[in-house]
Amino acid sequence: MSSTLITGIGELVTCDGTSSDLLGIRSNAALVVEDDTIAWIGAAAEAPAADAKIDVGGRVIIPGFVDSHSHLVFAGDRAAEFAARMTGEPYDGGGIGVTVAATRAASDDELTRLLAGRIAELRALGTTTVEIKSGYGLTVADEVRALTIARQFTPEATFLGGHVVPAEYAHDRAAYVDLVTGPMLEAAGPYARWIDVFCEPHSPHAFDADEARQILKAGAAIGLGLRVHGNQLGPGPGVQLAVELAAASVDHCAFLDDADVDVLADAADTTVATLLPGVEFCTHSPYPDAARLLAAGVSIALASDCNPGTCYSSSMPWVISLAVREMGMTPAQALFAATAGSAKSLRRTDIGQLTVGNRADLAVLDAPTYLHLAYRPGVPIAHVLDLAISSQRASARP
Ligand code: NIG
Ligand code: FE
Repeated sequence: MSSTLITGIGELVTCDGTSSDLLGIRSNAALVVEDDTIAWIGAAAEAPAADAKIDVGGRVIIPGFVDSHSHLVFAGDRAAEFAARMTGEPYDGGGIGVTVAATRAASDDELTRLLAGRIAELRALGTTTVEIKSGYGLTVADEVRALTIARQFTPEATFLGGHVVPAEYAHDRAAYVDLVTGPMLEAAGPYARWIDVFCEPHSPHAFDADEARQILKAGAAIGLGLRVHGNQLGPGPGVQLAVELAAASVDHCAFLDDADVDVLADAADTTVATLLPGVEFCTHSPYPDAARLLAAGVSIALASDCNPGTCYSSSMPWVISLAVREMGMTPAQALFAATAGSAKSLRRTDIGQLTVGNRADLAVLDAPTYLHLAYRPGVPIAHVLDLAISSQRASARP
């Protein structure tokens, strides 16, 4: 076992829920990490000895971001679709078929290489945990392949055979639902922790409430946790269905009526509303009203939804700045939602909060205060603190 003492922390943001803003900020604090675990947090003046020492030079330490919603296993490019949307073309999920074709045509090595590159990208921006969905294969073999590749990078792998009805089943949706709930789930389920479905009556390609319920219940029956894409393109049944089935998360939540907000508030211990403002930015759509949800007592997470269609960015700092600028969240609420909130949506208590016994998943901000996450949009101030190499990096900087 090796231990590392981290000192010189300008602001230690624990996100442990102990202060009124929930951030539990400590000044003059130090932290000891033993292997992958936080072993001690306290006043720097009282820090115990350790095998190694890292001085972060007055920078901010936060929990690494938890990105609880992404679709990172894919090949191909849809930049032209994005450009068309910026001049008024609406998003209806039809472009998913383009990515399905490119992903099916890619080799295992190519998909793995592309995913590794995307993981490097998000770590460079401070993310330490990422959930990854399948959903661009939509055959038994291609869904299993996507999950097998995702599992090399994260335990938070999600089976999304219920992303859209692929073109070859457009004439027989029921047969595709049978495939997803039968042979596809049987083959892919063992590689996944979660099952998700795109429940969206405003997309001709996605699933209605009855189809989505069948898919989610089949996943629950083999022990998968539930997640739902709901209320993304217009009002719909996704939120109510997620709460009815005690899903861990319902994601998007851009179009909610009062009844949706009420059920989410009642289910705050069970079901988290995951907001994905990068999607609204990249699809020219109205942002969710986070302030309304927070006022009602809904549990909120922030995530990237990084995917080639609705948001090709995995930048959690950018998501935070959008949440603050466009959704009525304070910088503290946004940071909490991007760490502890998204950990809750994954039903994890060992990440997203810096407390003794938790994973030592740390990010460092080149800034005097966490407020810079929203204050300096687009500037890469956040990085994962790599304990193996950061002693050189920290001391090399002024
Ligand atoms: O979360 N809405 C469904 N799925 C993704 C978009 C996938 C795509 O367009 O390729 C989303 O926005
Ligand atoms: Fe998504």
